Amino acid sequence: MKTIAFVTQKGGAGKTTLAASLAVAAQDAGESVAVLDLDPQQSLTNWAADRTAETPAVDYLEPGAIPQLPSILKALEGRGYTLVILDTAGIDSTGTHIAMQAADLCLIPSRPTKMDLRATRATYEAAIRMQRPFLFALNQCPPQPNNPRATEAAQALSMLGLIAEPLIMQRADHQDAFASGLGVTEYASDGKAAEEVRHLWVWLKKSMKGKNHGETVKTKLVG
Ligand SMILES: Nc1ncnc2c1ncn2[C@@H]1O[C@H](COP(=O)(O)OP(=O)(O)OP(=O)(O)O)[C@@H](O)[C@H]1O
Ligand SMILES: [Mg+2]
Repeated sequence: MKTIAFVTQKGGAGKTTLAASLAVAAQDAGESVAVLDLDPQQSLTNWAADRTAETPAVDYLEPGAIPQLPSILKALEGRGYTLVILDTAGIDSTGTHIAMQAADLCLIPSRPTKMDLRATRATYEAAIRMQRPFLFALNQCPPQPNNPRATEAAQALSMLGLIAEPLIMQRADHQDAFASGLGVTEYASDGKAAEEVRHLWVWLKKSMKGKNHGETVKTKLVG
């Protein structure tokens, strides 16, 4: 079983939106997925309440229960889940650190703005301190061709670590799917947002299998 934690203290980066759609896409691709909502805002829990599909499994973990995360993950593995996705609150808290520590991979979404990129710092520094593998995900990139914003942001982030592929564009499908309790691949299966999220899952799966992210990140930082 693999565990991916969506983390960054920056609110609105897309942790919850991507967690929901990635969970659906991974389930569709054959994984048995459980999603744990560690954010007292409970956006993901509310999304799940709007769903009719029984998968992926979604549960809320209140702050007091987060220290039990390692044993909860063990229990989920025992029940046959192959992927757990953690959605965390947009604060640099003990709960977030427990999630990062328990994860095989910390995924740090960021919008392609200077303010957002800077706000990832506390999170990737925490990941480095904890020796946890991390990747950036550039989200809400302008979909217009040749827009330099995403390229410049990708260049800045690539000095610090790996960026997940593909870049995720700003697309209304993400907002409309979430509002309907759906992942983008369920909402508009042939759409570009769906294509990007399916690609993201394939890339992440391959990446978790094949690479030691920690070493890659270290190389990047000294290189
Ligand atoms: N790729 C995208 N295209 C369009 N809208 C997006 C995209 N990703 C996220 N959004 C929108 O951006 C807003 C913030 O996203 P989201 O709630 O997922 O961020 P978050 O990181 O979970 O924030 P918080 O820290 O407050 O929990 C939402 O309105 C969501 O619909
Ligand atoms: Mg959220």
